[in-house]
Amino acid sequence: MSEQIYYTDLLESDVIISSKGNETDIPASNSKKYYIESYGCQMNVSDSEIVAAVLNKSGYQGTADEKEADLIFLNTCSIRDKAEQTVRNRLMHLSHLKKTKKGLVVGVLGCMAERLKSKLIDEEKLVDLVAGPDTYRDLPRMISDVDGGQKSVNVLLSREETYADIAPVRYSSNGVTGFISIMRGCDNMCAFCVVPFTRGRERSRSAGTIVQEAEEMVRQGYKEVTLLGQNVDSYRWAEDEKLKGKNLIDAKYEEGVINFSRLLEMVAQVSPSLRVRFSTSHPKDMSDDVLEVMSRYDNICNYIHLPVQSGSSAVLERMNRSYTKEWYLNRIAAIRKYIPNCAISSDIITGFCGETEEEHQETLSLMDEVQYDLNYMFFYSERPGTLAAKKLIDDIPEDVKKRRLEEIIAKQNQHALQRHRQQIGTKQIVLLEYTARRSDQQLVGRTDGNKKVVIAKDGWKIGDYVEVEITDCTQVTLFGNVLKKLDL
Ligand code: SAH
Ligand code: SF4
Ligand code: F3S
Repeated sequence: MSEQIYYTDLLESDVIISSKGNETDIPASNSKKYYIESYGCQMNVSDSEIVAAVLNKSGYQGTADEKEADLIFLNTCSIRDKAEQTVRNRLMHLSHLKKTKKGLVVGVLGCMAERLKSKLIDEEKLVDLVAGPDTYRDLPRMISDVDGGQKSVNVLLSREETYADIAPVRYSSNGVTGFISIMRGCDNMCAFCVVPFTRGRERSRSAGTIVQEAEEMVRQGYKEVTLLGQNVDSYRWAEDEKLKGKNLIDAKYEEGVINFSRLLEMVAQVSPSLRVRFSTSHPKDMSDDVLEVMSRYDNICNYIHLPVQSGSSAVLERMNRSYTKEWYLNRIAAIRKYIPNCAISSDIITGFCGETEEEHQETLSLMDEVQYDLNYMFFYSERPGTLAAKKLIDDIPEDVKKRRLEEIIAKQNQHALQRHRQQIGTKQIVLLEYTARRSDQQLVGRTDGNKKVVIAKDGWKIGDYVEVEITDCTQVTLFGNVLKKLDL
């Protein structure tokens, strides 16, 4: 089982996740074999599970070994230039494989497919198929076009597609934790961000199908679900026929509309043994209602990812984030009021267009004020077509961006260590998720607050909830002794 790394705080690595198929979890068939690799955010991991479901239904068979695959799909990310470079390097490597394997089909899925469209086929000669994030139902047809000797491109974005009726095949999952996409796309137009262009308009998925999927996960033995959306706080769904399929963000009437706090409550009620997480919360939209629901349910984790991006109101305005530093700090205060022990994480971009030294200092001082448990930190990478690329100048020299990023990382490391030290001597409920990479005699799990904990394996099993006394820590990991197993 591979350890999943989401955003990384290391400068040199921009691959956010790379999950590989686990053969045993994929239903067998008698046809061609496919292999999927996911880059980017959790949404891509979740989408790859939809792709696997579509392909399995058409009789293809998943494999965890790229060498035995007839079809290789890379589900790609465009968020920063480096993310795209990583995929291009991977494609270069695959060109060797393609030379030795006649008939091998290479497909690019996801955000890079959407951003570059058919240009990708001109630039990367070995690519046979380019499929944008809303076109995965069309993959079987596209594959047969390729089998017929053509290249195939479908990058149509949809206002309705949510894949609500497709049961994902969680092929790389540990059987304990999984994702449910509750919405797709994004309408926010943050100036730096390519996502609205690669993922299209925001749309919510039917609440009923989300709850059904959570119930199915419980039946399959899952213990934790993460609800995914680029801005979960703008989730809106009406079960009412009249309102269905409308862009309910703009709907005048709220009656009969399920918002995120209601959805969260509905998922929390599925089972007390299913922990619920969600990502990402947007500071401009995160309401007290959501915090109030979190405070009432023990199985909603006390953890919020609330990306600030910058501690300077002037930079936030240039970023088109629609909130000020004061507003953001007011949201932090609200979290602390409703859930005093809530863990909080963020994303920070350093070196955005025109960022002065003073504005950079404001980010450092906001970090001191909030004392984040975790931060995903990046330097600004201009993305073609975004508002910033069109209207602002990417004028901060790379060495300055990197120096500022190092200062931010150094501060975060201090805060993470302090936060971890505060945990020593406390008792935490830990869900055990996988065997440690360093020793098969250790298991790794996470606390309610999303902190990684390493324990001695003894008789404990992956999927157990255990009460752990925290005894030691580094800035990335807690260590502890299991006191007892909990029956939740
Ligand atoms: N929807 C989420 C973010 C998704 S992208 C939100 O609004 O918070 C994940 C993170 O990548 C962003 O929060 C941002 O910090 C970073 N990011 C996005 N575009 C970037 C760019 N052009 N350069 C550097 N980092 C970027
Ligand atoms: Fe990008 Fe902003 Fe949408 Fe997040 S909210 S995906 S940063 S445009
Ligand atoms: Fe990357 Fe697309 Fe996610 S750009 S971060 S894979 S939405």
